[in-house]
Amino acid sequence: MTSIDPLTFPPGFVWGAATASYQIEGAAQEDGRTPSIWDTFSHTPGKTLGGDTGDAACEHYHRYREDVGLMKDLGVNAYRFSVAWPRVQPGGSGPANAKGLDFYRRLVDELLANDITPWVTLYHWDLPQALEDAGGWPARDTAARFADYAMLVHGALGDRVRHWTTFNEPWCSAFLGYASGVHAPGRQHAPDALAAMHHLLLGHGQAIESMRAADPEAQLGITLNLYAISPADETKAGDLDAARRIDGLANRIFLDPVLLGSYPADVVADLQGVSDFGFVRDGDLKQIAQPLDLLGINYYSRHVVAGEDPDVPAEPYWRAPTSWPGSETVRFLKRPGVPVTDMGWEVDAPGLTETLTRVARDYPAIPLYITENGAAYVDTVGEDGSVEDAERVAYFDAHFRACHDAITAGAPLHGYFAWSLLDNFEWAWGYTKRFGMIRVDYDTQERTIKASGHRYREVIKHNGLGE
Ligand code: NOJ
Repeated sequence: MTSIDPLTFPPGFVWGAATASYQIEGAAQEDGRTPSIWDTFSHTPGKTLGGDTGDAACEHYHRYREDVGLMKDLGVNAYRFSVAWPRVQPGGSGPANAKGLDFYRRLVDELLANDITPWVTLYHWDLPQALEDAGGWPARDTAARFADYAMLVHGALGDRVRHWTTFNEPWCSAFLGYASGVHAPGRQHAPDALAAMHHLLLGHGQAIESMRAADPEAQLGITLNLYAISPADETKAGDLDAARRIDGLANRIFLDPVLLGSYPADVVADLQGVSDFGFVRDGDLKQIAQPLDLLGINYYSRHVVAGEDPDVPAEPYWRAPTSWPGSETVRFLKRPGVPVTDMGWEVDAPGLTETLTRVARDYPAIPLYITENGAAYVDTVGEDGSVEDAERVAYFDAHFRACHDAITAGAPLHGYFAWSLLDNFEWAWGYTKRFGMIRVDYDTQERTIKASGHRYREVIKHNGLGE
């Protein structure tokens, strides 16, 4: 028997870190940027914890050089960031804002000068407010606007960026944005959420088709947030059905159209009381199912679900029933004894292996990348300023092993991006949740690499968990 340690990853494995524009950039009103739905939402009283906004965030817009220096220090070989649409095309249509594009040119040049491969996410939730005013994602025209915007960004950065994903976690944009309303724009209308989902997917397909035509060498994909899903009790039909429904609404409703060219029939049937899917036009699904070069997967946790049972308490939280149209009776459970992060999400590394092997098993072969994985914990700053975030170190290690297990099991996993490079604006939770491998002191904007960052440096250096 050979020892499994050190856990070495395949040569060329991508070790990266990820962020998103609204969560780190700040400079919300500088150089021609106009409001996004997240500016409007976060400035609306009661929408974010403590009324926090992304106005200043990590001031990355001005500190990007220092932040690239920190990436270099960690040794990451790739950096996943998003472009703020309202910075580069302020009205959401029409002419580009040269100053906005210049920021991303400078950032990309700085990355390349430091041998860090840029991975661009075109949309990480900051829709220009002007487009929301015109109907937002429930309006079909928004898909076409997105495809135009994608080409505008590609036109500016395509000579130096190879790796592109269209959307980050469209589930969140559609269902948290338009069903439960806990995310911007904060609307609560389930039929609109489904229309939003379809138009996000359509925008993805249109953008991929155009970018592919313009740049056959580009590596193109999308990032989905996928979950391991389990029934609370495998012997209960109600729990098994709850797991099928939530797997359908969380995972398959995006995976199937993107990779198979159809919506899952059982999910469409579950949703008949909500929407007749009349927004799907001839040719849409073909348009959505463009050939891709990669699939990005964001993995954080498992959903353990049960059917209706008045004796079992529900776990309310962000898994608000209204986020799951047609499945409002499903309850999300917290398993006793399973550790949770500061978000209340169960730590379940085997679920990552399960998710990767499941995608590899159920869908056509496609290179997979973990585009986000990480954990929020309450960090304690030592007297010398150091942050010994042992729980985050353990979370990452367990998930690196889970990635290795998936590769061993045959999943075509080619890279991993830690969420996140920096502590940042955690959406409705504001600055109360810290996901960074680097601490940000929001009073001084001082950055400090945490123990998890130092550990990540070692993992990258060894391309594995060995010493
Ligand atoms: C997924 C999102 O893409 C990211 O913006 C967020 O901060 C993390 N999950 C943590 O919740």
